Amino acid sequence: MTQNHDELARRVMRALQKEGWEAQLAPHGSKGYDIKLKRGGERVAAIVKDYRVKVHSGLVDKYRDFINEARERDEFDRGFFVSTSGFYEPALVQNLSEEFTYIELATFKRGKLRWEDKYEADENGEPRNRFIGVFTAKGGVGKTTVAAHLAGAFALSGYDVILLDLDPQQNMTKLLGKGVYIPGTRGRAGSAIGVLKPDNYEDVSEKDNIIICDCNPEFDENPKSFIRKFDYCIVPTTLTPLGVNKNADVIVRTMREIRRENPRAELFVVINSLYPGEDERNHKLNEAMKASLKELIDDEHTRLNYIEPDEAAIRWSKHLLYWGYHFIENTQPQLAFREIAGRNNPRTDFLKLLERLEHHTDIERLKELERDES
Ligand SMILES: Nc1ncnc2c1ncn2[C@@H]1O[C@H](COP(=O)(O)OP(=O)(O)OP(=O)(O)O)[C@@H](O)[C@H]1O
Ligand SMILES: [Mg+2]
Repeated sequence: MTQNHDELARRVMRALQKEGWEAQLAPHGSKGYDIKLKRGGERVAAIVKDYRVKVHSGLVDKYRDFINEARERDEFDRGFFVSTSGFYEPALVQNLSEEFTYIELATFKRGKLRWEDKYEADENGEPRNRFIGVFTAKGGVGKTTVAAHLAGAFALSGYDVILLDLDPQQNMTKLLGKGVYIPGTRGRAGSAIGVLKPDNYEDVSEKDNIIICDCNPEFDENPKSFIRKFDYCIVPTTLTPLGVNKNADVIVRTMREIRRENPRAELFVVINSLYPGEDERNHKLNEAMKASLKELIDDEHTRLNYIEPDEAAIRWSKHLLYWGYHFIENTQPQLAFREIAGRNNPRTDFLKLLERLEHHTDIERLKELERDES
């Protein structure tokens, strides 16, 4: 191993440690892999490749042979193939096939690992849309508000985003009609977000879109075919003393219901209506909430992300409380992103939430593609 490669392997190792792996560099002189990993009795060998071009399927095949032999020797159970330059299409497609077991592919960029297991290409070899459901098995905690403004944050950050109103109550459609325009800030162009109902959702997958689905709290009221599409699910909840245990129960139920239809969606719990300037009380409430959720967090491991309020939370705000007032006034729909005295908490909070999601998912890929095309 050269020094550079050694340093890279260490950085990958740190990213894996963040995912709960016990990791060490391969002992000197060992061939075929770079990092030795252990987690809950499982032994994994990881190889790290730093090529200027994407990794092709032949290299992955070779590594698979190595892993198969290591399995026969009972040295490792699985292998990770980490590339700093991504993978060519055939390697990714092969990775999805049923026979292709024991190997997982990941791309390592800017200190982050992006697992390629969620990658699905359409027939043209293009990545598909990403579905983000906003769901919790409780009414009135801000699903519609969060869905609309998260879509706003995506649009402000240069993504193509669509809102899909899955809730038969159709609050989103009532509030925003067919769509909403978001004026650009600081010289940037504005953008529009379309609102669709499931019936007139045709596959918009010609482009790579982010599709944010506003749901009904009654799980069975939502069309199953869309729940199954969720890649990610945002679960808004609140921090209040009387709600701590109850809300934790709601999150457990939410998880159970989603898993009935969708075994793979990754869940993100986010605190909504956080009262600003009450750090100490909010901290204690947050600790109590996490304690009530401990079992679920342990069980689901990486498929459940509890977003700490200091990483991202939606603060209680007058902007959001009165969001939708245009409906009363019968004026143009808008989001609660307008500045008052140069400030706007919702916009800051939702952009932060988006950043947190970008950090923990592969959605940024859609923005990258967008940039590559232009
Ligand atoms: N962060 C916030 N600050 C202030 N008010 C908020 C905030 N988030 C939501 N609200 C208000 O709470 C109310 C309920 O929000 P919303 O309708 O988005 O919830 P919901 O979960 O979609 O409800 P339902 O289950 O009926 O679909 C709305 O009046 C909204 O303006
Ligand atoms: Mg709603």
